[in-house]
Amino acid sequence: MRTSVKLFASRCCVLFVLGSVVSCGPKQNSVGKPHTEVISEDAGVPDAAVAEPEPPKPPDNVFTRIGGKDGVKKIVDEFVDGLYADKKLVRVFGKLKKNAEKDGKFRELLAEHLCADLGGGCTYTGRDMRAAHKGLRLTQVDWNNFIEHFTQVLIAHKVNDNDQSEIFSLFGRLQKDVMQK
Ligand code: HEM
Repeated sequence: MRTSVKLFASRCCVLFVLGSVVSCGPKQNSVGKPHTEVISEDAGVPDAAVAEPEPPKPPDNVFTRIGGKDGVKKIVDEFVDGLYADKKLVRVFGKLKKNAEKDGKFRELLAEHLCADLGGGCTYTGRDMRAAHKGLRLTQVDWNNFIEHFTQVLIAHKVNDNDQSEIFSLFGRLQKDVMQK
């Protein structure tokens, strides 16, 4: 009798231990609610291994190579400062130089025009070249001085010969509208 009580007690003990180790269903927390663990989808993957989407590359064209919008703005500012400082061009740019509002607009539109023509994706919002230069009575000497100033700035910005040619062939196509009779 004593042996069977002992056997019963030891079996109960084994069942109790198994029951506490192999428990099924969600764990209960201290307030009796099921404890659910949220495992994020990239758990275990180091941050560096999660690929960031690459930003789109700017197109490979003259506009990009001369520095995009910032580059063009710098080029235009240096170019216009040079035009204003040139005594030979006072007749043409004298008034513009003294009018801060018109000067600012001129620089902005020149940059916008270059951006639109050189592949920067801008929309030019100024007057067409014929209307913009109407009545200025520009001479071949004025034109040559304008081109000379632009060339110097492009050289200072290390713009290569091919890109310079592309810019000047664009200017060449506009010359007849700028230098109208
Ligand atoms: C292809 C070359 C040229 C381009 C792309 C160009 C571009 C422009 C642009 C975008 C404007 C502003 C238009 C607007 O106000 O709506 C402008 C105005 C002007 N440009 Fe040109 N230009 C060129 C050649 C020249 C030359 C050779 C000269 C003189 C040497 C010149 C003198 C002026 C002047 C004085 C104005 C201001 C006109 C005013 O508002 O009264 N431009 N140009």
